[in-house]
Amino acid sequence: MNIAVFASGTGSNFAAIASAVRRKQIPAKLALLVCDNPRAKVMSKAKRAGIEVFLIDRDSFKDKRSFEKAIIARLKQARIGCIALAGFMRILGPEFVRAFKNRIINIHPALLPAFKGGHGIADAFAYGVKVTGVTVHFVDEHMDHGPIIMQEAVPVREHDTLASLEAAIHRVEHRLYPHAIRLFVQGRLKVRGRNVVITK
Ligand code: GRF
Repeated sequence: MNIAVFASGTGSNFAAIASAVRRKQIPAKLALLVCDNPRAKVMSKAKRAGIEVFLIDRDSFKDKRSFEKAIIARLKQARIGCIALAGFMRILGPEFVRAFKNRIINIHPALLPAFKGGHGIADAFAYGVKVTGVTVHFVDEHMDHGPIIMQEAVPVREHDTLASLEAAIHRVEHRLYPHAIRLFVQGRLKVRGRNVVITK
């Protein structure tokens, strides 16, 4: 199976996925990085790893629909069977989601449905929660909403700063996300309504 990762920023999850593919922990090919930001650090990570990059500028399209149509065409051309969103700072439209139904996975740095949106770690920290965590889920038409594949709790300790909590969350992300993608590639994730069953 060919995988595409979508990212707009640092790309530490991209790097974790690339390394899991390299070590054959994920039995698939990381065929494409889709990136909407030419200055993103993930760009150089992909180039160094020798992974093809599809850099696409939203501003050169008249609307979101045509922007997404161009991405879909590129994904079909590359025969992509799994899309992993890893810090892609755009919400995919319903047509895109439909085109890859139950084939798009996202990672969110909080325990959904708490702390949705672009600042999950900082929002949880500011709220004063004692436990937060990481969620990997299928993507549907709504933001941070689709069926949950796996979650792992991360305690917020008394001496934690936002930076130390971020580091703890990312450590869990880099282990959990490759694991979830591996299960998907192996055909072991069955979606039943809002439930995802992991088969043997
Ligand atoms: C991660 O915290 C992920 O959960 C969120 O965006 C962040 C991306 O970080 N969706 P990176 O670019 O993978 O380092």
